[in-house]
Amino acid sequence: MNHDRRQFAETEAAPLRVLVTGGAGYIGSHVVHALRASGHQAVVVDDLSTGSADAVPTGIPLEQADVRDTAAVTRVVSEHRVDACVHLAGVKNAGESMTDPDRYLSINVAGTISLLQAFAAGDVRHLVFSSSCAVYGAPARLPVTEESPVAPVSVYGYTKLAAEQTIAAYCATGRLRAVSLRYFNAAGATPDAGLGENWDHTQNLIPLLCKAVLGVIDEVQVFGTDYPTPDGTALRDYIHVADLADAHVAALGYLVGGGQSRAVNLGTGVATSVLQAIASLAAVAGRPVPHRTVGRRTGDPPQIWADASLASSALGWRARHGLDDIVRSAWTWHSRASAAP
Ligand code: WQD
Repeated sequence: MNHDRRQFAETEAAPLRVLVTGGAGYIGSHVVHALRASGHQAVVVDDLSTGSADAVPTGIPLEQADVRDTAAVTRVVSEHRVDACVHLAGVKNAGESMTDPDRYLSINVAGTISLLQAFAAGDVRHLVFSSSCAVYGAPARLPVTEESPVAPVSVYGYTKLAAEQTIAAYCATGRLRAVSLRYFNAAGATPDAGLGENWDHTQNLIPLLCKAVLGVIDEVQVFGTDYPTPDGTALRDYIHVADLADAHVAALGYLVGGGQSRAVNLGTGVATSVLQAIASLAAVAGRPVPHRTVGRRTGDPPQIWADASLASSALGWRARHGLDDIVRSAWTWHSRASAAP
């Protein structure tokens, strides 16, 4: 075990009072679940625009507020004596960001600045930020490491990079230490804990594949079969949302143990194609996945997957689930939800 890992992985993080922005959402609810399982206290701020109050466990305070409402967030930080924060509140559709840049800059960047300003009301020393592999754009060299050039190709990617830089500016004052977790493709669910994605507004592949099998949509359009990849379809690094959530707890433990501020890739290191994801669901569901191949989607990088070694060495974290686990859990969640009265 290298020094980094030994130094931080053995640090038992004392129970923290963690503000989770966006904690009523898909990833946020998994993070709250993981924090509680690790003995931390959580308080959620969420505007419920896409999240659900039902996703916040009983006993966890939920303050319905927009992170851009600095006064409201300040009140929460003060009243709940917050000492750490996981910041997930934001908007995340790269395509949508190109047609509505003002909304993305306001929520993802101004919202982060507002949150940082609210920290002054308490003694918030540790921040874990929900960033994205979208900061890398379409990388020329793979797998992507944290030293790979950042070159966003969407407004969404630029907002995540801008938020990272804003957080880094605060960290330079010494008031805060932060880990920006650069998510790859989060997917899957934890049905037994009642945690999963609301597919109403999703444009993401795996929930759409489930919709097609369940007949909620006629078919999935496969965006491009002429990529320079083994089967011609685009490659991504799909990571189980439960693994993603665990990494947030590990990142807090790393910071409490004295770890320095840094960006960390959150992927599995495994590249999966669209057709591989389709084949996985067909096998899990025992039925075909209605789909049709069409042209490429503008802005899609042909392939992107993570070098996940820093998450392992610095955070002592490693993904526990592979593609079939992700697809199986998503299928279980959506088929149950679809059958519910
Ligand atoms: C995956 C693959 C599509 C839909 C996501 C998040 C983004 C960021 C990175 C966190 C691509 C193909 C999709 C469809 C398809 N994560 N596809 N038909 O674009 O990689 O980005 O992960 O910040 O927030 O959105 O995810 O699920 O849209 O696409 O062929 O109907 O599936 O072309 O290759 P993407 P996605």
